[in-house]
Amino acid sequence: MAELLSGWKRSHYCGEPTVNEVGSDVVLMGWAGTWRNLGALIFIGLRDRSGVMQVVFDESQLDKETYEKAESIRSEFVIAVKGKLVRRSDEMINKNMKTGELEVIASELKILSTAKTTPIYIDDDLNAQEQLRLKYRYLDLRRPCMQDVLRMRDKVTNITRRYFSENGFMDVETPILCKSTPEGARDYLVPSRVHPGNFYALPQSPQLFKQLLMISGCDRYMQIARCFRDEDLRADRQPEFTQIDLEMSFVDADDVMAVNEGFIQRLMKETLDIDVQLPLRRITWHEAMDRYGSDKPDVRFGLELVDVSECVKDCGFSVFTSAIENGGSVRAINASGALSKITRKKIDELVEFVKIYKAKGLAWMSMKEDGIQCSFAKFMTEDQIQAIIEKTGAKTGDIVFFVADKNSVVYASLGALRLELAKRLELIDNSKFEILWVTEFPLLEYDEEEDRYVAMHHPFTSPMDEDIQYLESDPGRVRAKAYDMVMNGNEIGGGSIRIHSAELQERMFKAIGFSKESAWKQFGYFMEAFQYGTPPHGGLAYGLDRLVMLITGASSIRDVIAFPKVQNASCLMSEAPNVVDEKQLKELSIKVDM
Ligand code: AMO
Ligand code: AMP
Repeated sequence: MAELLSGWKRSHYCGEPTVNEVGSDVVLMGWAGTWRNLGALIFIGLRDRSGVMQVVFDESQLDKETYEKAESIRSEFVIAVKGKLVRRSDEMINKNMKTGELEVIASELKILSTAKTTPIYIDDDLNAQEQLRLKYRYLDLRRPCMQDVLRMRDKVTNITRRYFSENGFMDVETPILCKSTPEGARDYLVPSRVHPGNFYALPQSPQLFKQLLMISGCDRYMQIARCFRDEDLRADRQPEFTQIDLEMSFVDADDVMAVNEGFIQRLMKETLDIDVQLPLRRITWHEAMDRYGSDKPDVRFGLELVDVSECVKDCGFSVFTSAIENGGSVRAINASGALSKITRKKIDELVEFVKIYKAKGLAWMSMKEDGIQCSFAKFMTEDQIQAIIEKTGAKTGDIVFFVADKNSVVYASLGALRLELAKRLELIDNSKFEILWVTEFPLLEYDEEEDRYVAMHHPFTSPMDEDIQYLESDPGRVRAKAYDMVMNGNEIGGGSIRIHSAELQERMFKAIGFSKESAWKQFGYFMEAFQYGTPPHGGLAYGLDRLVMLITGASSIRDVIAFPKVQNASCLMSEAPNVVDEKQLKELSIKVDM
């Protein structure tokens, strides 16, 4: 390479020179973006990660060989240019470009690499299918907007390291080849060659290791940790993703929350210059579900849920009354002013929409100028309608939507409908950042498929002291010392105070259906550790990708990961996962059965 560059040293990145440096000699290197040949003049937009500089090749000032070389340049050739930095003539000034007042009059040129016509345009306004962008991700990443995202991600990790280091957190790496555990999402498994038939699991998070580090006396740990979960992908989920993971000793929930409030305040200030007011608002899980139908509420807009069970409990609509009799409820959302925006046909779409969330239907009441139109009017008395109007605050121009079912279905469907209505009614202010804590999560939730309770967060989360007494008698009512940080309707982080006695840990495993033997078989090393002096401890982990997605305004975490996977967990560029050699399988004592 020394020959290729023959001693040329880059003087500036393309986007760096300023008008103060006009007249100086520069050496720039980068990719030829736009190029125009105007006969005796060639203009090239030379691009690198810092920006673009216009380079001019003037036939009258160059020897024939150099000019011919310049004529051969095509898009995405990699070139090096020596030249003089000048101010553009007034009519050539481009105010939309950082270096728009400048250009470089080239005197020498090296073509460092040629390029075939690229399958996608290297342009921020690119319209290409995401599939194509991901197949040629290295080209996609050349686009300035993608470079901005990578830079922002780098900034976020730097701020993170600085903040936690200043606050006494020690960065400790934890293993990637771990022991498989049955709780949580599905594990990615790695076969062991030296132990035929045995497998490592890739970590779903460093949870057990960070707790063991507290037992080791680390006191404050942090790690920017890669995590792996074999679960169905969505816009905010990847099979491998990154956590900002931390754990602290001798703390209670308020201490963990305070450190993290300081972090989020610093992060928002240094990335977006947004002032976050502290302390953050806290709402309990129950309140979040009751008011927003979600444990990660977007509170940038209203459209809160209203329980109308009392108003309709004696009505003639069996859908409503039987839901209430079976322990469920009837809840409503008053979509204020929706009548002018949501037509009858669109209401039918919403009926289909809530069915995705297992609602059996969506009843509605339109508050028209000339009277009320209601999908269940025939079952209601005038008084009952009036009671609903009072409870929901409905007025002319509004549409009220209702779901009757068991509470979990009512929350899920109305929670989703609330977001959908906010989009359709354009109620979301995208410049706003609403951050809050959701606290007092249930410790356990009943899993109907498995026919047992499972930990809502993970089995190491401590119950609230006053609820420990119900762990055996009424597990569903036990609340956890758990907290999630929620930003604009996204769970950006979650954590808890941990169980720190072996005895309570055993009771917890029992509550989720583990016998003492199976708990010890799976987690014995962990439970044994608890017997040698364990400080009270707790922590939290952020989804780094989700944080960067929200900070950059991206619509998917794929856009903030350099090389993401697609929906079916494959990489379109490298084509992972792939079939491997018979020989490799043999070494691992593995036979594929499909
Ligand atoms: P949890 O499972 O809640 O907690 O994960 C913490 C945060 O990680 C992010 N996250 C994801 N991001 C992208 N893709 C995924 N598949 C994905 N899954 C989770 C979320 C989430 O809030 N060990 C505990 C933390 C603790 O208790 O300290 C844990 O992993 O933003
Ligand atoms: P039906 O009597 O089935 O025609 O339903 C009358 C109205 O109630 C329709 O608008 C249905 O969409 C709605 N509906 C049906 N089941 C439910 C339910 N579980 N919750 C709310 N509305 C429902």
